[in-house]
Amino acid sequence: MAKRQKKAGAKSSGPKTILGIDIGGTGIKGAPVDIERGVLAKPRFRIDTPQPATPQAVAGTVAAIAKHFKWKGPIGCTFPAVIKDGVAHSAANVDKSWIGTNGRELIQQATGCPTELVNDADAAGIAEVMFGAGKGVPGTVLLLTLGTGIGSALFLDGKLVPNTELGHVIFKGLDAEKYCAESTREREKLGWKKWGKRVNRYLCHVEFLIAPDLLIIGGGVSKKSDKYFKFFNTKCHVVPAKMLNEAGIIGGAAVAKHLL
Ligand code: BGC
Repeated sequence: MAKRQKKAGAKSSGPKTILGIDIGGTGIKGAPVDIERGVLAKPRFRIDTPQPATPQAVAGTVAAIAKHFKWKGPIGCTFPAVIKDGVAHSAANVDKSWIGTNGRELIQQATGCPTELVNDADAAGIAEVMFGAGKGVPGTVLLLTLGTGIGSALFLDGKLVPNTELGHVIFKGLDAEKYCAESTREREKLGWKKWGKRVNRYLCHVEFLIAPDLLIIGGGVSKKSDKYFKFFNTKCHVVPAKMLNEAGIIGGAAVAKHLL
């Protein structure tokens, strides 16, 4: 996010429609988004993430998605790393060659479209705060996405504090995401109770550090909240995300609003 970009003479295909693209470790998904209503304007299109997921290869895949939609307008793209002014500053679960790469510029070159690049959890949080579980909630709202890693998005009265990376808090001697991400549940074949209790311990720790008024749990596993929310005993209210699989695409698009 950060620095505002010029419109670069781009035209959008509709009045308030932006192509949102969510770059993940296994898939890259995109769809034009009606950013006023927070809904997909067309069915989403997905391509497997190229392996190795080098910046050039990923930018090529993003361009293929833009081409699929014959897209000529702004693009809002998410990426699972710290992103400052288009540049990736970390690479926990992605190809290390991303560190120091200006992904925004690469995607802009590959697609010919003005682009914004944002951390994936921040994008999901923006979607929840604008249209979902965090809409209209005052005070401190924290979204944690449980997936391959753990992402975080922190808001104060609806305003994002970008790049918080609370999934990398050291907890029980481990990077917290190694302790209780959804991928850990799968890898270690943990039952819902065991994993739910792990997540609860982590949430209680994060609650102690941040004291959120509302905690939103996102990521694919937020759909199955009935299986593990019962093991939570945080003081603050915890709710599942509402935007589910589309949060990244919608939030990514919303971040690029200034390019319209
Ligand atoms: C990354 C974050 C990302 C999260 C979820 C973490 O490993 O460091 O930037 O938001 O995974 O994808």
